[in-house]
Amino acid sequence: MSYRLVLIPGDGIGPEIVRAAKKVLDAVFVRFGTEVTYEEVLMGGASIDVNGVPLTEETLKTCREADAVLMGSIGGDASVSPWYKLEPSKRPEAGLLSLRKGLNLFANLRPAYLYPELRDSCPLKKEVADKGFDVMMVRELTGGLYFGERHTDVVDGVRTAVDTLSYNEEEIRRAAVKAFEIARKRRQCVTLVDKANVLDSSRLWRSVVRETAAAYPDVELKVMLVDNCAMQLIKDPAQFDVVLTENMFGDILSDEMSMIAGSIGMLPSASLNETKFGLYEPSGGSAPDIAGKGIANPIATILSASMLLRYSLDMDEAADAVDEAVRRVLKDGYRTGDIWTEGCLKVGTDEMADRIIERLF
Ligand code: IPM
Ligand code: MG
Repeated sequence: MSYRLVLIPGDGIGPEIVRAAKKVLDAVFVRFGTEVTYEEVLMGGASIDVNGVPLTEETLKTCREADAVLMGSIGGDASVSPWYKLEPSKRPEAGLLSLRKGLNLFANLRPAYLYPELRDSCPLKKEVADKGFDVMMVRELTGGLYFGERHTDVVDGVRTAVDTLSYNEEEIRRAAVKAFEIARKRRQCVTLVDKANVLDSSRLWRSVVRETAAAYPDVELKVMLVDNCAMQLIKDPAQFDVVLTENMFGDILSDEMSMIAGSIGMLPSASLNETKFGLYEPSGGSAPDIAGKGIANPIATILSASMLLRYSLDMDEAADAVDEAVRRVLKDGYRTGDIWTEGCLKVGTDEMADRIIERLF
């Protein structure tokens, strides 16, 4: 049997980091004798340039037929890129949202782990960084504000914009089930983050998540308001195991988590549906300012490839080997510019991948 993987290099640093992660995957597949075919497709700005739209039906179909998709990043610098002169529904980000929706990827897993070796890159107080943290964010990815109805009109001579935040109980329940299942394999604690003191949608989240929790008596459920959570992540991130939250709160808090983990270049992500299929991408953006220079940190993408092995291909042993190789490369002092500190060896994107491959088996 042969697996079908789709690669979406995308824009900015995307092609460099995907190339680096593919090298690591290839080394793993050779070692395990896994047969894999790759197909590369265009998405985001790269697709706009060729097809006029950020996501074609054909690309969506190719992804749907695969076992998993590995993506780099999409988008450009909105102040200079012509992609941002297009109407919002034709811009690179719209392609990513349609891809997530089209593949029904409702659960976005974003693990934030502070490697002991990166404590100096963590902007938190030393005593907080020294405690370390290991948080798994489960962000709902196909509902809420990013997919609600929106429009801008002139109402009584005044420009008025409306975005709709809507969730039904089924959307909430399936995300909650993912969070509880994941917590079971970790430290058995889920923190639901919401704004239930103001929003009806958050109050529905609370009641559905509490109902779901009844089936997981072994997992503790805590609730926290999102503004407080933003603060607690800086004050004491070690208190969190699994954080469960809706789409926009998850978007914002996951960037905060990446910062305290040392660099956005360290955070992988997996977007999953109800099957084994997943879309794997680094949590960071396309970083157009450093694109093409060969200096981007490929670790988030390599760790995303590890999540692909674990969640879509059931290759846990291989995933463990990749995670361990990343840990060892950091221990041995190799750093890309974003996580470099005095006394470490500065390497570029490709060399970082090569050093990780050397430590694989
Ligand atoms: C992310 C990104 C996307 C999102 C953008 C590019 C649409 O910020 O993956 O976090 O908001 O989900
Ligand atoms: Mg984001």
